[in-house]
Amino acid sequence: MDHINKDDLSWDEWDEMVRPTSETTDFDKIVESGLSRRGFLGGLVAFGSGAAVMGLGTGASLLSSTSARAQDAGRFAFSPVGVATDSTVHVPEGYTWDILVKWGDKLVSDAHDFSHEAGVPISSADKVFGENTDGMELFAVGDKQVIAVNSEYVNPKINLPHTEDGTPQTADDVRMLQNFQGVTVMEVEEGENGWRVVVDSPFNRRITHNTEMAISGPAAGHDLLKTEADPTGTRSLGTFNNCGAGKTPWGTYLTCEENFNGYFGSTDPAIELPEDFKRYGIAAESRYSYEKFDDRFDISKNINEPRRAGYIVEIDPSDPASTPVKRSALGRFKHENAACALAPNGQVIVYMGDDERGEFLYKFVSSGTYTPGASTDGLLDNGTLYVAKFADDGTGEWMALTPETTGMSLEEISIFTRMAASKVEATTMDRPEWVAVNPVAVEAYCALTNNKNRGVKPNAGGDDTAVNGPNPREKNNYGQIVRWYPENDDHADTKFKWDLYVMAGNPDVHSGTPYAGSDNVHAGNMFNSPDGMMFDTSGLLWIQTDGNYKNEGDFAGMGNNQMLVGDPVTGQIERFMTVPYGSEVTGITWSTDRRTLFVGIQHPAAPFPDGEGKLARSSVIAVKRADNALIG
Ligand code: FEO
Ligand code: CA
Ligand code: CA
Repeated sequence: MDHINKDDLSWDEWDEMVRPTSETTDFDKIVESGLSRRGFLGGLVAFGSGAAVMGLGTGASLLSSTSARAQDAGRFAFSPVGVATDSTVHVPEGYTWDILVKWGDKLVSDAHDFSHEAGVPISSADKVFGENTDGMELFAVGDKQVIAVNSEYVNPKINLPHTEDGTPQTADDVRMLQNFQGVTVMEVEEGENGWRVVVDSPFNRRITHNTEMAISGPAAGHDLLKTEADPTGTRSLGTFNNCGAGKTPWGTYLTCEENFNGYFGSTDPAIELPEDFKRYGIAAESRYSYEKFDDRFDISKNINEPRRAGYIVEIDPSDPASTPVKRSALGRFKHENAACALAPNGQVIVYMGDDERGEFLYKFVSSGTYTPGASTDGLLDNGTLYVAKFADDGTGEWMALTPETTGMSLEEISIFTRMAASKVEATTMDRPEWVAVNPVAVEAYCALTNNKNRGVKPNAGGDDTAVNGPNPREKNNYGQIVRWYPENDDHADTKFKWDLYVMAGNPDVHSGTPYAGSDNVHAGNMFNSPDGMMFDTSGLLWIQTDGNYKNEGDFAGMGNNQMLVGDPVTGQIERFMTVPYGSEVTGITWSTDRRTLFVGIQHPAAPFPDGEGKLARSSVIAVKRADNALIG
């Protein structure tokens, strides 16, 4: 495997290489499901008439002709942009964009200036804006605006410019990478020259792979979470692979630990790995060699350390001295984001995807209820975790994960959540990425980014991944967005109806097949791999992609990654932005006056943003309308 440069692989490609799932799909089951699949996909091709099943009739049928689209801008206040293959950002006419912050920019004035030759010295690594920007939320704290934003992972070839190929050579190199990741909390303000980070603001804070945090909920104090350094199993260091995010109704930030498995390795290659490591992809080989220089990440010495990662962490952005809390009641898996909703009676719902091929979609429902101004203690510690089961007839059910339904203890359910969900036979999904909750209708959406293993092989737990209702295409390279409507207009209800909002595809390459996509996909808005998603206050859905940007073969005509806007009512989707070659667009939030939209550009290739011959730097950009009107 050494000839493969891990730096060039996405996390899912890396997982597949290090811990491939076995090819043990029951062939009979594939054949059997193929029969129903053919029937089902037959319906999808004739999408308009398949409305009863897919619920897409309104949008899809309205969008059947290009001329109708050109004449009707719908609720969109912009003219769509074309595809791009270049190394910059494009926004519609009448809009502007500018850079707010780049990896390595100072949060405090005593940090070193960024250098394109040397990067950031170790003494400043936790005093600058982190690498690989991802989920973010903006908070109003008094009259200040504070953004909490994730730094998901690192690009070692860029971050360690003094090394030959980005492989850490010393404990300092590892510490540097650890300090570039986690979360940045920073105050921002808009002045005459645009937006800037308020250097030295008391709110500015870095949370890294070594920041102390508390563990709460059922798993806290369990033997599986105890280590020599923390015999109580209630305090851990660091938050890992912070991907998407969320915002609670009480104004705290939820950061989501996704591909945590990749940080742990073994200095003893012959180590026998426990069964749960297999399901979570924890292997003897790590991605960044932490274990060679930092014993905490060496599973041959600290077998429980990986069981202290894979959670959702709550952070109070208004209090820089607060201790982040790992909320184990929300389960342990490759958490993508955390989309909060409130039930009519005040119960708190957190929707969560587990982004791995064939894993599941979850929700947490609090036992207690939220009342503005009242204590929120325990709301994210006491409640029920559910996993989604979709029926092909457009109905679905949230299956409670309890000792009765799983045969596991509550503690085990919160640590080995994937196994609990397999026991209730949840629906295997095509990599659930962000969930978005519509603020103007009782419905929620989940981006199912893609799954080349659909119909090919089971998930890491051996669960069958034959095509099913919301995941109807085998070898799914394009992705789709599923949405659901809770019964009784109550997100806490255990029953729902569902349909597909869109199936991405390529109508030029795959005309007349399900891989052309649904009827609301056309030559002018083609995209693949929906990932980040957020509703604006008007109920429009902003969709960000993290897909194949080679613009050839199955992906010809799609260009670089992009951000689109979707109307949930009509089904119309149009392209708002394209991002530089090599990057994905991920993370979206608004200024308090909603006249600025902040968007994250992750892992761009040079020359973005600083020019030819310079280091590429992930960045958050500020998008505005030239007339300073509202932007969602
Ligand atoms: Fe970090 Fe699933 O995206
Ligand atoms: Ca993502
Ligand atoms: Ca992704």
